[in-house]
Amino acid sequence: MPLARAVVEPQTGCAPVGVFDSGLGGLSVLRALRAQVPDESIIYVADSLYAPYGERDDDFIADRTLAIGQWLVKQGAKVLVVACNTATAQSIALVREQLSIPLIGVEPGIKPAAVQSKTRVAGVLATQVTLRSARFQALLERYAADCRFLCQPGHGLVQAIERCDVGSAELRALLDSYLQPMLDAGADTLVLGCTHYPFLDAAIRDIVGERMTLIDTSVAIARQLERVLDQHGLRSEPGRPADLPRFCSTSDGAHLQQLAATLLHIEAPVERVVIPSRRTVAPDSQAA
Ligand code: DGL
Repeated sequence: MPLARAVVEPQTGCAPVGVFDSGLGGLSVLRALRAQVPDESIIYVADSLYAPYGERDDDFIADRTLAIGQWLVKQGAKVLVVACNTATAQSIALVREQLSIPLIGVEPGIKPAAVQSKTRVAGVLATQVTLRSARFQALLERYAADCRFLCQPGHGLVQAIERCDVGSAELRALLDSYLQPMLDAGADTLVLGCTHYPFLDAAIRDIVGERMTLIDTSVAIARQLERVLDQHGLRSEPGRPADLPRFCSTSDGAHLQQLAATLLHIEAPVERVVIPSRRTVAPDSQAA
């Protein structure tokens, strides 16, 4: 994992791991990180005031990702996990150049899907921004030679999860409209190409039953974090009592607190934070 150019204070093992998503989806990655490296402290930023990123333009996403990365560095983060496929697809190269700490991004599990699919037809659910990104297109070109990928933008899904809706009738109908055509085409594998979507696993299972294997890359990200911490000598002391994550939100944080409590069983307060950026100069601006 490349280190960037600027020189800053050396980070120590007891510093936190920074994790960021446009909103609540990164909690699915945080769950895997806590299982893999339970001794690490985590500071999590949900940019919920500006979610969903999947409906934003490329410059806006890069602007927010960089601002939040820089903010996390100021909070003392020793590594940054960009727990958002959309932000990774759009801006990881740029942000990696600008930050002084190692960066880990997430991308849809096209490779494991291509390896596992028996019918050689796999569905991909991701945001429109991820699907049209050059990074995702390159990934498809690499692995889609003998496997057909049916790419479906998950319009409306992130918004539902941001409202803590993981199973309403409307949400199930929307999911059904995305998944049924994949089943009809013989897909036996579904790539969850957005970190919000693992929270829909029960609703997805109700529709697809055992006909599809779901591919979620959060465990792979957690293993990658462990490798990066080891490579850079940044592991926290083993056996240190695990802290609760420090949850931060650019919105009021009520839904972050609710989802963390109900789905992750983490009862922790949420700090409201203001992270200005070039495209959101006025702190409460919704400008895009
Ligand atoms: N969790 C983000 C991802 O993985 C959601 C993007 C969005 O806010 O639309 O892509």
